[in-house]
Amino acid sequence: MARPKIALIGAGQIGGTLAHLAAVKELGDVVLFDISEGTPQGKALDIAESGPSAKFDGSFKGTNDYADIAGADVCIVTAGVPRKPGMSRDDLLGINLKVMKSVGEGIAAHAPNAFVICITNPLDAMVWALREFSGLPHKMVCGMAGVLDSARFRHFLADEFNVSMRDVTAFVLGGHGDTMVPLARYSTVGGIPLPDLVEMGWTTQDKLDAIVQRTRDGGAEIVGLLKTGSAFYAPATSAIEMAEAFLKDQKRLLPCAAHVDGAYGLDGFYVGVPTIIGAGGIERVVEIKMDKPEQAMFDKSVDAVKGLVAACKEIDPTLA
Ligand code: APR
Repeated sequence: MARPKIALIGAGQIGGTLAHLAAVKELGDVVLFDISEGTPQGKALDIAESGPSAKFDGSFKGTNDYADIAGADVCIVTAGVPRKPGMSRDDLLGINLKVMKSVGEGIAAHAPNAFVICITNPLDAMVWALREFSGLPHKMVCGMAGVLDSARFRHFLADEFNVSMRDVTAFVLGGHGDTMVPLARYSTVGGIPLPDLVEMGWTTQDKLDAIVQRTRDGGAEIVGLLKTGSAFYAPATSAIEMAEAFLKDQKRLLPCAAHVDGAYGLDGFYVGVPTIIGAGGIERVVEIKMDKPEQAMFDKSVDAVKGLVAACKEIDPTLA
C-alpha cells in the first residue's frame, strides 16, 4: 500500500517541526508548502538528509505550488504569522484571515478529501474561516488547541506531583485563549481526580489555581521567553498526535476545536470540545456534564470565540 501523503501548509517553525516528527514517526510522505521560496525546499532536503542516520524512509518535497499537495490524506495548516511579545492571538486576526482564504482555496482545489488540522491563530476563528473558505465537510476540518493546552496542564501537574507525565490526564475545553477552561475534576493522576488529590494533601487549592492560570498563559509564557516567535515543539507534537489518530484510525478521545452542532447547546460552531478522532475525521463530539461554574467559564469562552468570528465576518463580508 502506498504511504499516506501529509501536506504541511506553512513551512515555518511549526511546519518544519511537523515535517521532522512525521519523518521520524514514518507517518507518510511529506510535502512542505510555503509562499517563501527556498524555505520549504531547504527544510525538506535537510530532513531527507537526516533519514540515513535516523533510519526512516519516506519522500520529502518542498514546494511553492499547491498542485504538489494533490491527493493529500492530511493537511496541517500553520501558514500565517505568529505572535510577538505583547500581542494577543486575536491581534493576528486580520492578517491570518487572508492567509486562510488562499489556503482554503488551495486545499479545496487539490486535496478535497484530506483531514485538515488548523494550527494558525487565533485558532477557533481561523479553523472556522478555513472550513468556510475550503467548503470541506465539517468533520474533516478541525483545529489543534486542546491537545496542546492539556499537554501543558499535564506537564505542570506532573511537575507539581513529581510523577510521570504519562500518568496524568487533563481536560481542557473552550477556546484556545485566555478564556480556555481547564477542568480540574476531569483531570487525574492515575485515575484520581485533582480535587481528591487536594484533599489527600498532595497539593493545595492555591497551587492548583496557579497551575490552571499558568496553563491559560502557557502560550504567552513561551512568547515572552523566545521574544521572536511563539511555541513550536509542543504545538507540532500535539497536531501530529491528532494526525496519527486519523491515519491509523485510532479512535482517540482528544480535545480539539471541532464543529459543534447540537451538543453543548451550540448551533453549528467551532470551539474546543472532547472528540473522537478516527478514519472518519471528527467521528464524534463528546458531551460531558459541567457544573455551574464550569458552564459559566465555557459560556464566556464561547462568547469570546463568537466575537472573533463576528470580527472575521466584518473584515471579509463574503463570510457573513
Ligand atoms: N501561504 C502559505 N504560507 C504562508 C502564507 C500563505 N499565504 N503566509 C505566510 N506563510 C508562511 C510563512 O512564510 C512562514 O514560513 O507561514 C509560515 C509561518 O511560520 P512561522 O512564522 O515560523 O510561524 P509558526 O511559529 O510556525 O506559527 C504559525 O501557528 O501557532 C500558530 O500563532 C501561530 O499563527 C501562527 C502559526
